[in-house]
Amino acid sequence: MIELLRARRSIRAYTPEPIEPQKLALLKEAVLRSPSSRNIDPWEFLFVDDRALLAKLAVCKPHGADFLAQAALGIVVCGDSRASDTWIEDCASAVILVQMTAQSLGLGSCWVQVRCRMFDAQTTSEQYLQRLLHLPEHLKVECLIATGYPAEEREPLPREDLKDAKIHGNTYRV
Ligand SMILES: Cc1cc2nc3c(=O)[nH]c(=O)nc-3n(C[C@H](O)[C@H](O)[C@H](O)COP(=O)(O)O)c2cc1C
Repeated sequence: MIELLRARRSIRAYTPEPIEPQKLALLKEAVLRSPSSRNIDPWEFLFVDDRALLAKLAVCKPHGADFLAQAALGIVVCGDSRASDTWIEDCASAVILVQMTAQSLGLGSCWVQVRCRMFDAQTTSEQYLQRLLHLPEHLKVECLIATGYPAEEREPLPREDLKDAKIHGNTYRV
């Protein structure tokens, strides 16, 4: 796992190659195996591979989502805020696990933030997606995950670039 963590970078360019059904099944298994508070599993995941729909996901906000149009797959990560007060944490756990699973399968991925983001001055990115994907009102959208075979190479972060000062022993010290 530490080798996967060392190599992982956000990948925002993808080849047109589709993801094989066996790998797709593993990505689905990964999100479903994610831990959740009180085992409530308040999430729902939409696995989007329709090209026209991916192009529409890519404009859910003005910046930082355009690469979804080229991705083989977009995963819409939703949480039921009525079911659990930790839906955000539960969704985030599932996201990092699916990103690491993608990494282990030779796929690249990138998180696209949706919660608290705007589609335009009047409409939140979440409202835009709720209408586009026919999501029920109670389902909140945490993020989208773009994934596919990487069409860019990114160097691992060197060990010396890590912010060691963020780690404290026993009590907080600046
Ligand atoms: C909560 C969260 C939200 C993010 N939102 C976006 C986003 O909307 N668009 C994007 O291109 N990258 C997004 N990223 C990816 C970060 O920009 C990226 O992880 C960070 O720059 C570090 O780079 P690395 O992942 O290559 O190590 C997000 C990452 C996280 C954890």
